[in-house]
Amino acid sequence: MRKALVAFLTLPLLALGAQPAVAHGHGHGKTLRAAAPRDLRIGSAVAGGGHHVDQPYPDPFTYDRPYRKVLAREFNSVSPENQMKWEFIHPERNRYNFGPADAIVRFARANGQVVRGHTLLWHSQNPAWLNEGTFTKAELRSILKSHIFTVVGHYRGQIQQWDVANEIFNENGEYRQENIFIAELGPGIVADAFRWAHQADPKAQLFLNDYGVEWPGVKVDAYESLAKQLLAQRVPLHGFASQAHLSMRYGAPDQLAGVLQRFDDLGLHTAITELDVRMDLPASGVPTAEQLTTQASYYKTVLDACLAVDGCNSFTIWGFTDKYSWVPVFFPSEGAATIMWDDFAKKPAYYTLRDTLRAARR
Ligand code: G3I
Repeated sequence: MRKALVAFLTLPLLALGAQPAVAHGHGHGKTLRAAAPRDLRIGSAVAGGGHHVDQPYPDPFTYDRPYRKVLAREFNSVSPENQMKWEFIHPERNRYNFGPADAIVRFARANGQVVRGHTLLWHSQNPAWLNEGTFTKAELRSILKSHIFTVVGHYRGQIQQWDVANEIFNENGEYRQENIFIAELGPGIVADAFRWAHQADPKAQLFLNDYGVEWPGVKVDAYESLAKQLLAQRVPLHGFASQAHLSMRYGAPDQLAGVLQRFDDLGLHTAITELDVRMDLPASGVPTAEQLTTQASYYKTVLDACLAVDGCNSFTIWGFTDKYSWVPVFFPSEGAATIMWDDFAKKPAYYTLRDTLRAARR
């Protein structure tokens, strides 16, 4: 009876192209995903692998049921935090470990979420067999090609956006020589990675992704010239993303919309892919009310930038709870970088994001 009534009430909405928000029990913009404009995906990293392995808790995504509930309820995009990285998904030269990433993709499908694949060409979190092996140039090229065809092919049709090339420039706008593929094969390998990913999944949107590109500067200039060059060569590049790992030490990125617009002007999608806002914690370990207000304003600055740019249609935070954040592991005196406390209670930043999304949806 109740189901029939719901169906009756939602049908006219669906005919008008509205999202069936009742399907997730969070109508009227009560969650981030329900509050968002229809053309904007709201995402979170899915905690697992990486720093979590050394923490005194079991794999969050697999074992924390309340965590999974919030992940399903609040977001309509998910990004495996570590589970699709080389060291995790390709631990031995002739062995792939798809199980944990498959579980995320299944979860996403069950909850009406898209997936952002992360990542295919990066200098970090590569397996020892790759870092320490001795390969000819031809072997290295074929290792990358077969990794991309295998991983992207495995998820063909199920990934909305792939971070194909991650953090390929250093702060001076030079190609990172820590990237074994770039160092050995030259920067032309970046174009090949995009071509191979496109052949393996022609529908996935293929991205350049980096941090430190929230303000104009040489790094952004390097990405802009690379993007122009790839597009001129008809390489299947579809997007440019700002990770947006921010610290309250350095100010809010008030020129981010302008940066994203430069890539939008090239006809590319843009995205925010890893937003968090860390702060110096007082001796008590608990942020002050003023710090939380400032943090909320940083989150809003980044969301406003995305909302201001037509082709910015994906906005992802790097985890939603401090319980699992990477920040205290890397920056011991900083923390509280996410939008929820350890028990998933919401911080001011959560409400600011939701209100901003609601206002934009109208
Ligand atoms: O590989 C070593 C291992 O040899 C050593 O025994 C162990 C001891 O702690 O550490 C291992 O490294 C860990 C690494 O993941 C590989 O699993 C690091 O401690 C751990 O801190 C690291 O964390 C991940 C980090 O990427 C690595 O760069 C985080 O979970 C993950 O959130 C983070 O995510 C990145 C994005 O992918 C790209 N953008 C920046 C973002 C934040 O760093």
